[in-house]
Amino acid sequence: MTPRFPVCDGVPASGLARGPLWAAAVLLAVLAQSLSAETRSDGEKGKKQFLYCIACHTVEAAGRQRRGPHLEGLVGRPSGVVEGFAYSDNMPDPPVTWTEEQLDAWLAAPHELAPRMCPGYTGIRDPERRRALIIYLKDPAAY
Ligand code: HEC
Repeated sequence: MTPRFPVCDGVPASGLARGPLWAAAVLLAVLAQSLSAETRSDGEKGKKQFLYCIACHTVEAAGRQRRGPHLEGLVGRPSGVVEGFAYSDNMPDPPVTWTEEQLDAWLAAPHELAPRMCPGYTGIRDPERRRALIIYLKDPAAY
């Protein structure tokens, strides 16, 4: 009795498990495709907006330090946490988390949150451009 169990149980069990897995995989593939169709050109537009930032920021933690801290993993990151970067007191105080909403608010009106954080940056008025920049910043390596 014991030796038969693994054989009889194993086959249908893995067969059963495959059904939902396949469905999930197909669903994920479809989702990923529609997402990338939606955001691909946005991310590319966002990369162009990043030209406003590139003089002072890289998007790679391993990149060479510029005047500002690297922005890899920025979306969702608390402010002021890049190790080895000597932040000034121009940073938001109290600190914030750079959620998409927070970033959008700051990008629109930098003077309201931290007026001197990024010297010379005066804001992007067009909400679509800000949205594109944030999409780019979420995954810069993809663009
Ligand atoms: C002239 C240089 C300069 C430009 C241009 C600039 N920044 Fe900055 N940025 C800085 C500096 C310097 C800091 C750190 C400020 C401090 O220490 O007070 C900073 C900090 C930041 C932070 C906070 C990072 C953290 O770790 O909390 C964000 C977010 C940021 N910049 C985004 C941007 C974006 C997006 C752009 C382009 C739209 C931009 N910056 C343009 C110099 C710049």
